[in-house]
Amino acid sequence: MCGIVGYVGHRQAEGVVIEGLRRLEYRGYDSAGIALAHDGRVASDKRAGKLANLEKAMIDHPLPQATTGIGHTRWATHGAPNDVNAHPHLGSTGRLAVVHNGIIENFAALRDDLEDAGHEMLSETDTEVAAHLLELEVCAGADLTTAMQSVCRRLRGAFTLVALDAEDPGRVVAARRSSPLVVGIGEGENFLGSDVAAFIEHTREALELEQDQVVTITADAVSVSGFDGTPGEGRRYHVDWDLAAAEKDGHDWFMRKEIHEQPRAVAESLLGRRNAEGLLQLDEMRLSDDDLRDIDKIIIIAAGTSFYAGMVAKYAIEHWTRISVEVELASEFRYRDPILTHSTLVVAISQSGETADTLQAIRHARVQRSRVLAICNTNGSTIPRESDGVIYTHAGPEIGVASTKGFLTQLVACYLLALYLAQVKGTRYGDEIAQVMDQLDRMPAHIQTVLDADESIYALAREHADARSVLFLGRHAGYPVALEGALKLKEIAYLHAEGFAAGELKHGPIALVEPGLPVFCIVPPRGRDQLHEKMVSGIQEVRARGARTLCIAEEGDESIRPYADVLVPVPAVPVLLQPLVSVVPLQLFACELATQLGHDVDQPRNLAKSVTVE
Ligand code: M6R
Repeated sequence: MCGIVGYVGHRQAEGVVIEGLRRLEYRGYDSAGIALAHDGRVASDKRAGKLANLEKAMIDHPLPQATTGIGHTRWATHGAPNDVNAHPHLGSTGRLAVVHNGIIENFAALRDDLEDAGHEMLSETDTEVAAHLLELEVCAGADLTTAMQSVCRRLRGAFTLVALDAEDPGRVVAARRSSPLVVGIGEGENFLGSDVAAFIEHTREALELEQDQVVTITADAVSVSGFDGTPGEGRRYHVDWDLAAAEKDGHDWFMRKEIHEQPRAVAESLLGRRNAEGLLQLDEMRLSDDDLRDIDKIIIIAAGTSFYAGMVAKYAIEHWTRISVEVELASEFRYRDPILTHSTLVVAISQSGETADTLQAIRHARVQRSRVLAICNTNGSTIPRESDGVIYTHAGPEIGVASTKGFLTQLVACYLLALYLAQVKGTRYGDEIAQVMDQLDRMPAHIQTVLDADESIYALAREHADARSVLFLGRHAGYPVALEGALKLKEIAYLHAEGFAAGELKHGPIALVEPGLPVFCIVPPRGRDQLHEKMVSGIQEVRARGARTLCIAEEGDESIRPYADVLVPVPAVPVLLQPLVSVVPLQLFACELATQLGHDVDQPRNLAKSVTVE
């Protein structure tokens, strides 16, 4: 939700900032803008639409050379996505520019005060007040760092602000409260970014900041302080992926590349989880085995695709540990006054680690004294930092807005958590746990088998390019897969798509079925006879009403053939692990269908990769 870049160093800032914005564009793409410190004045350009519009404008109206700059790519909150509301915003005198991610909740009152004092606001944004307030401070003699501290003390809400003062051109100052910001540490140059992708081309050394901190970068130094001016320090870390991971590597879309990266992402998320004795170990857990033995209830909170991973986790945790599990949408959690105690474990699943709904939910849980464990893909992000423990997934950067490898690696982390709890609580024998771990170790090869048949799924997608609606049916662990398949199609193909628990169909949704309607059916493995039989009945019910059944079933399951218009085989795996293979054809289908429809798969309309506003 908005991408932010800052740079001070020896290179031309324009190139560094634009390249950083390109890598952050997945965070928001309603408009883009840049500001450079040049000759005591801010030189700036900003344009509605994608970054390409800004780049085109800058060819016609080149900006002057400068070695200090900031930039922004926007997901609109306050004000329409037009040129005027695009960031950067400038103060009245033109010496100061600001970019912002988040929402300044008290902006209306601040704006009234500023207008009463004669300031003219040009945009409808909340950001512009920050530009004027900062400018008032620096014009009164404060340096930009002190000005930022003072202004942040007056702001309410969640925000990252990055500012430059053209009369003090060798520094960029930023602040964060509940909104992402990392520092990239270079040699003779330093960087700011909403995430490390902004500067990964130049450095893999990063500094993570805490809440309510201000950071000042110059070419040679980085200094951190609290909003009250007390000196602070961030946590330095090395980014364990490189530029190649942030590029498309010959694929047309990041999403397609990320789907094909899943065997490796799953393998890496499983790596090093067993010690020499074959026992499970979760290094980043930070919760002791005694803490975990006390747990008598688990609540999983998450949004979107991560929520569906949580639904699968419920089946696995309850089956292997007999601990009762609730799964809840993060945006609903704290508003229902949930019953939380010290023996409740709250598990927050978030690929980005920045989702505002999930962050606010874990804060609520911690106030109620529950322990919080994060499952997260982004080192240095807020959710793991504010949790009592974390299991990191190792998917590498996920740039396509539609989550794919993020989902599969979340599933892996959920299985690991379930098995670890079973080990600690003694609810499963060691050899049973080892057997599941062996099955998990075989999953990358199984996922690869599904990917090797990608062309047949692409052909199926092309056949359905004129579909107006698609339904998805599943049972048990296949139900979240049905929901995920529908979400993928909605978000990138803009197609009406709905997932249902197959047993619920006859309670209403079957009325949607009409001749020719494509219905994906996620068929459970044959080993689970009851489930399998019930699913076959569901398939027959929709087929009898003219639906076109597209059945994802384990290879060799001939019992499905008479009811399947199309049979998509996936490797035979246990029912709880089946989502790892059965979701892959649905990802491929959505990616190809959206491509056929001419949509921008990586940057679907109205969406942003990480949703940092509630
Ligand atoms: O970063 P998170 O996992 O917290 O994000 C949660 C959702 O916003 C995310 O899964 C979203 O639904 C994706 N666009 C789905 O593809």
